[in-house]
Amino acid sequence: MNQLAEQTGVTHYRDHDGAEMLRVSDLHAFYGESHILHGVDFEVRRGELVTLLGRNGAGRSTTLKSIMNMVGRRTGSIMINGNETLDVKPHRIPRLGVGYCPEERGIFASLDVEENLLLPPTVRSGGMSIDDIYAMFPNLYERRRSQGTRLSGGEQQMLAMARILRTGARLLLLDEITEGLAPVIVQALGEVLVKLKERGMTIVLVEQNFRFAAPLADRHYVMEHGRIIEEISAAELPSRREHLHSLLGV
Ligand SMILES: Nc1ncnc2c1ncn2[C@@H]1O[C@H](COP(=O)(O)OP(=O)(O)OP(=O)(O)O)[C@@H](O)[C@H]1O
Ligand SMILES: [Mg+2]
Repeated sequence: MNQLAEQTGVTHYRDHDGAEMLRVSDLHAFYGESHILHGVDFEVRRGELVTLLGRNGAGRSTTLKSIMNMVGRRTGSIMINGNETLDVKPHRIPRLGVGYCPEERGIFASLDVEENLLLPPTVRSGGMSIDDIYAMFPNLYERRRSQGTRLSGGEQQMLAMARILRTGARLLLLDEITEGLAPVIVQALGEVLVKLKERGMTIVLVEQNFRFAAPLADRHYVMEHGRIIEEISAAELPSRREHLHSLLGV
């Protein structure tokens, strides 16, 4: 077994040259008896930014959690970089290069910014250095000695994203990163996403703020009742915007 296979338990791991980074097929997910996802199908190619849109409760967060193996039970298929991961343990998923930024952000309130940045293990080569992080997030440099509790919502969000970039993740699953943030911070986050795309990152963005997501995305998937019901490419967006708005109820 090669080293990565040992770390991940994925014995048939190969560094896939094909364009597909993530393929979710007929995914069902359950919390206890509650059947939440009812056959989710979508794929994300390497270097793409796609959105998961939908009304509240559509199943977008559950889809990201399912990819991380953080829900009760799943059936179907989740291929990450060419590897079936349905039976891969939760703590091993990040080692496949997946970084997950949950709605609740998950930073350490009692630690300062720099301590938070030094904590994440490097699970793959190519993780960003502290200097790289400060270049991408100048606010975090200014606040590097501030405790997590003292950060603004926007600073906390940037710290949460910076932490996953430290790990070497190449596929980022970002859940509602703009929620509750001031427009100027939302704009700064948009600039960060553009830079991450330029670095070749693959990004799945769960977003309510469609105006934020629209100019960044290559494609949009719309979820409803635990399924993907529509796919709209950036090129199709101008002619299908009204249709999309009606699906989203905005
Ligand atoms: N831990 C849980 N146990 C049981 N049901 C849950 C749990 N988490 C979510 N659900 C239910 O699963 C459905 C999908 O929730 P999910 O969080 O995926 O929605 P969402 O699309 O992210 O929407 P939003 O973030 O706006 O609430 C909802 O009906 C929700 O009530
Ligand atoms: Mg959600």
